Amino acid sequence: MPATPILSLDPACFDPDALAPAGQLLREGKLVVFPTETVYGLGANALDAEAARSIYTAKGRPSDNPLIVHLPDTKGLPELCRHIPEEAEALFAAFAPGPLTVVLPKRPVVPDAVSGGLDTVAVRIPSHPIARALLRQAGVPVAAPSANRSGRPSPTRLSHCREDLDGRVALFIDGGPCGVGLESTVLSLAGEKPTLLRPGGITVAQLEAVLGEVAIDPVVLRQLEEGLRPLAPGMKYRHYAPKAQMTLAEGSAEAVADWLAERSKEPGAGILCWEEDAARMVAAAHLEQLGPREDIEAQARALFDALRRFDGAGVSAIYGPLPGEDGLGLALRNRLLKAAGHRVVRL
Ligand code: TXA
Ligand code: MG
Repeated sequence: MPATPILSLDPACFDPDALAPAGQLLREGKLVVFPTETVYGLGANALDAEAARSIYTAKGRPSDNPLIVHLPDTKGLPELCRHIPEEAEALFAAFAPGPLTVVLPKRPVVPDAVSGGLDTVAVRIPSHPIARALLRQAGVPVAAPSANRSGRPSPTRLSHCREDLDGRVALFIDGGPCGVGLESTVLSLAGEKPTLLRPGGITVAQLEAVLGEVAIDPVVLRQLEEGLRPLAPGMKYRHYAPKAQMTLAEGSAEAVADWLAERSKEPGAGILCWEEDAARMVAAAHLEQLGPREDIEAQARALFDALRRFDGAGVSAIYGPLPGEDGLGLALRNRLLKAAGHRVVRL
């Protein structure tokens, strides 16, 4: 397939009409990669089952993993959702547009190819100006998973999307690096009580300020619990996997820095570290700085790009720190644990 064309726009200053042809492509059932405030999305018309199926082919994704449907505002919700509980209205009033996805009972108009055969649909109203303008130009709800090949880290820059999907989609829209850098918070309102399915840019504390207590899906908890123990190599669940095995260290800042400095002397070692510790890692074959230790937002923005650069550098093993669970830290920790297949040493 020939190389995919690229439309480059400055999110701070662009003509929404420049997105008219992209909107047309989506209405025609084609695939368009676009920036959002979390990660880049691989979009298709969510009401067109064949278009939605082509997402799975382009990504190499198992077809039972449902897609998030993106809307420019809440007006499109009743078309997709059988029932919109008060909690959903309160959440969208508080956090839309923004990095929150809400799972609701679906109407039959949402194809099985989008819902993965479930009777629910995940809906998100992104805040990125290019995403919003594109959704308005498209005039149809847009199903969009992260624009990476299945199993690779989510893309936070257009270069990541090109690495994975060039020639497999009709258009790339480049809006520069993503602001949050981790995928949206996914919260289900389809069960008995509000349940967090994936931690992200909207924190548990923010959700609880609106909803009262939020249950956390046992899978999220189990992953975190497993992360507290040193685990055998070769574990599965490496959803955000870099090519080399990654091991994370948890402990005091000094103990983690000492451990990383020691590991950095191993031949071929890739080190992921906080900015404050970088000067101690001079022996590392490849070094990636995650950001200042106290700046979780900066670390969230940097993580997926760093994981991809380790792949490019061909390191033989990766060592990094495991942050705490507070605020956005829960999402960062969740993604790091997945990338490491829960391989953690406790110092
Ligand atoms: O930030 C994001 O959410 C990005 C951007 C592009 O919007 N999208 C994204 O999509 O991360 P994806 O497909 O990589 O992740 C969607 C997650 C998956 O874990 C999927 O299983 C879950 O949401 N999901 C989607 N629909 C669901 C449903 N009906 N019930 C439960 N989980 C659902
Ligand atoms: Mg994804």
